[in-house]
Amino acid sequence: MIIAPSLLAADFSRFAKETERISKSGADWLHLDVMDGHFVPNISFGPQVVKSIRPVSRIFFDVHLMCSKPEILLGPFCEAGANQITVHVELGEAAVTQLLWKIKSLGLKAGLAVNPPTTISLLQPHLDQIDTLLVMTVNPGFGGQPFIHETLPKIQQAAAWRRERGLGYRIEVDGGINLATAAECARVGADTFVSGTALLGNRSLGTAVKKMRKAVEAAHLKAAGDKHATLQLI
Ligand code: DX5
Ligand code: ZN
Repeated sequence: MIIAPSLLAADFSRFAKETERISKSGADWLHLDVMDGHFVPNISFGPQVVKSIRPVSRIFFDVHLMCSKPEILLGPFCEAGANQITVHVELGEAAVTQLLWKIKSLGLKAGLAVNPPTTISLLQPHLDQIDTLLVMTVNPGFGGQPFIHETLPKIQQAAAWRRERGLGYRIEVDGGINLATAAECARVGADTFVSGTALLGNRSLGTAVKKMRKAVEAAHLKAAGDKHATLQLI
């Protein structure tokens, strides 16, 4: 299970210090939300910020591009120290195929995200190209929004495809993730949890990360146990 605090909920005047705090918290990834004010109605930060915090930590940089023209940003974020770059399926099949190929050719991991109103079937042509499938559990653009429960069946579908096709992509969830909603997502197959407000809002980030890891591991084990018990009955 991967816990990925989002820098979007951090104190913007102290990015380096906040990156250090997150890196010392026991978290696995740092989630970096890049918004261009066009694909989403908000602007966050660019490659320069990512480049400036890279020397602070060796933590895995999970760059989430909510941008209409990500193709112009792949090189700069690669140079800035990204480990994974995620683009959105709403950009269209042909563009997404190109983008995923380009991200991989830069030697990075590739992620593909789907917004709540978008059908998950649009991801099918790309499943064997991706390292991470990101199910947005809020409409992108802002932190602190409530979790959308109608997205849970998408996580289940992503897990079913992974199992049926013998694929190895991670299933990431992002938006409104707290202890309760993280456990709900783990129960249906998620294994990577982005959280901004619910984690960064804690004075003791280390304790909050530990609690979330425990909650998702327990939910995952219970779901696996229930499935096993059901199979035994058959
Ligand atoms: C929203 C971003 C999320 C956001 C999560 O568009 O993609 O990563 O920062 O923040 P919380 O956990 O506060 O919903
Ligand atoms: Zn995000």
